[in-house]
Amino acid sequence: MGNIYKDYNIPVLNYLSDEYFITIEELVRILSVNRQIIETQINKISKIGYHISCDNEKGYKIISRPDILLPFEIKNNLSTRYLGKNVYYYQKLSSTNTVAKKMILESKDKLAEGTIVIAEEQSEGRGRSGKNWVSPPGGLWLSIVLFPTVKPADFTLITLTMAVAVAKTIKQLSDKINVQIKWPNDILIGNKKICGILTEVNIVNKRIQWAIVGIGINVNNESSFLPINIKESSVSLKDITGQIIDRVNLAQLLLMEIEKQYDILKKGGFETILKEWKSYNNSIGKEIKIATEKGILDGRVVDINERGSLMLKTVKENIYEIISGTVLP
Ligand code: BTN
Repeated sequence: MGNIYKDYNIPVLNYLSDEYFITIEELVRILSVNRQIIETQINKISKIGYHISCDNEKGYKIISRPDILLPFEIKNNLSTRYLGKNVYYYQKLSSTNTVAKKMILESKDKLAEGTIVIAEEQSEGRGRSGKNWVSPPGGLWLSIVLFPTVKPADFTLITLTMAVAVAKTIKQLSDKINVQIKWPNDILIGNKKICGILTEVNIVNKRIQWAIVGIGINVNNESSFLPINIKESSVSLKDITGQIIDRVNLAQLLLMEIEKQYDILKKGGFETILKEWKSYNNSIGKEIKIATEKGILDGRVVDINERGSLMLKTVKENIYEIISGTVLP
C-alpha cells in the first residue's frame, strides 16, 4: 500500500501559478531555502506530471497539471468549511473504507469530521452486501469520515443524503444528464450504474459513534474495461459525455455538495433531503424484487418514508417497511 501523500507535499507547488511566472529568487525568499532545494522540488513536480515552463529570467510557471487527485489540487480553492480539509491520498490501496476505518481506530486524537481518504486505484474495493467493487485508475474512489447526529434507526438517511449530493454534482457537470437514484443509493444514468455508495457505521450505546461514507464514481474509466458481469450494467461519465472529465474539479464539486446536503441533514432537514431524493427517484411506483434480512419480497414500491425506508406493497396488499435491502435486477 503506497501512501504517496507525503512525497507529494511539495512546498514550491503552493507558489506556482498557471497565469504568471515566479522567479527562483522569490521562491528562495518565500520558502527560506536555497536554490538547489527549489530546483530539486521543481524536478519532483515535473516527474509527477506537471508541465512547468522554466525561463532563466522570468522563472517558473505551470503549463499543465496531471490528472491525479493530489490533496494539494483538491484543497486548492475548495470552499468547504470542513469537508476535505484533511486529505489522505494513495496511489493504490485495498479499500478507502477499510483504510479510513483503520485510521479512526488507530488515531489517538479523534480524526476531524470531513477527513477523506482517496485513491487512484483500489485492489479490494468493497460494495454493498459483501460484493466487490471494481476500482481501476480513472475513477473517483473516496471515503469520508463523519460523526452524524441521526439516530441509528435513521441511518438510511445518511445514505440518501449522499446519493442526493452525488446526483446534484453530476447535474452540475451537465444539466442534460438524466441522473436517477435507485433506492437506497445507486446512482444511475440510463438505467446503468455510474456510482455506488457504501455507508458503514459504528454504533455505541445506541448512538452512531462514527460513519464512513465510501463513494465510487465511474469517471474516466471506460466501462468496456470492466469485467463482463458488470460491464452491461455500468457506465462512466466519460462514456456519457464523450469527454475526459477533470477529476479534481469533480471531487471539489462533490465535496462542496456533500457538505451542503450533510449540513441540511444535521440541522434536521430530512424533509428537504427526501424531497430532493424523490426528484431523482427511480424506484417509487415500480414492481420490484428485493432481498431483505427476512428473505426476498415481491411488490410495488409505494413510497420512501421519513426514515428513508422503502415502503413495499405486496400482492396480498401487505405493506412492509424495509430499512435495508438490495433491489434485485
Ligand atoms: C455499491 O455496492 O453500490 C457500493 C460501492 C461503493 C464503492 C466505494 S469506492 C470507495 C469506497 N471504498 C470501497 O471499498 N468502497 C467504496
